[in-house]
Amino acid sequence: MTTMTPDEGVLLCAPDHFRVAYAINPHMRAADGGINVVDPSIAREQWKALRDAYTGLGVATHVLDPDPDLPDMVFCANQSFPWRDDSGRLRVLLSSMASAERRPEVAHFERWYRAGGYEIHRLPESAGVLEGMGDLLPHPGRRAILGGWGFRTSEAALAEVAAMVERPVVPLRLVDPRWYHLDTCLAPLDPSSALWCPDAFDADARAAIEDLFDDLLEPPGDEGAIGFACNLHVVRGRALIDAAAPRTAELLRSRGFDPIPLAMSEFRKSGGSVFCLKMELPGRGA
Ligand code: ARG
Repeated sequence: MTTMTPDEGVLLCAPDHFRVAYAINPHMRAADGGINVVDPSIAREQWKALRDAYTGLGVATHVLDPDPDLPDMVFCANQSFPWRDDSGRLRVLLSSMASAERRPEVAHFERWYRAGGYEIHRLPESAGVLEGMGDLLPHPGRRAILGGWGFRTSEAALAEVAAMVERPVVPLRLVDPRWYHLDTCLAPLDPSSALWCPDAFDADARAAIEDLFDDLLEPPGDEGAIGFACNLHVVRGRALIDAAAPRTAELLRSRGFDPIPLAMSEFRKSGGSVFCLKMELPGRGA
């Protein structure tokens, strides 16, 4: 379902040109030291199943046309951070991507937001790197934003985000390259609970997260590192989660989040899964 309202639902990018063309995170490397090989028809089926899951839940989907030269553009969580400010205006902060390969993706998103009437913002160059909602997760129950830094987004960028968005940003340092974006190791579930991989964080970040959520769940076994368990999306009370994290899905079911498992093998080859593939739009707000 595509609606004309550019403020609700999720923004996706068609996977026609998705492939692994370079390695900017450890998941993109093949066992023989080369890079992973994606099966394009399986990728398309997996992406369609994700889009259909949103549609089935009544979530509007907006789909960007892909650029043949930008194989990672399908990961819509990274190029922007849209929000609705206190006076109700739609605004978006565009990313400054860490890698040269991904930098040209941002202009495509900028055009989409501009056409939708969003006010466009950028950080000063001195702020360094910002990778959108990959490293910026709004806390579901507080005015704060959880901000990952260390591999992609820079610490300096988080202070600038706080000033721009007029919300406190809690800086969380990531220390293990397998969890290079915050959305790979932390998933807020509701105002008091979250799923996380504690090994991804330094001691201060662990303490901050323990402070922010009463109830912290961990993916069983290696589902957090290999199965992208935390890269889930809770929407309409359901958890859209990588099918490679079945024990985590059962854990979520026991907590009342009815899981919808989605096969994501091709996207994991690039270091991404469910959460990375969409941008959640700000909605009408309270
Ligand atoms: N290959 C992409 C990269 O390394 C994957 C991005 C995944 N996105 C995310 N939000 N974790 O940049």
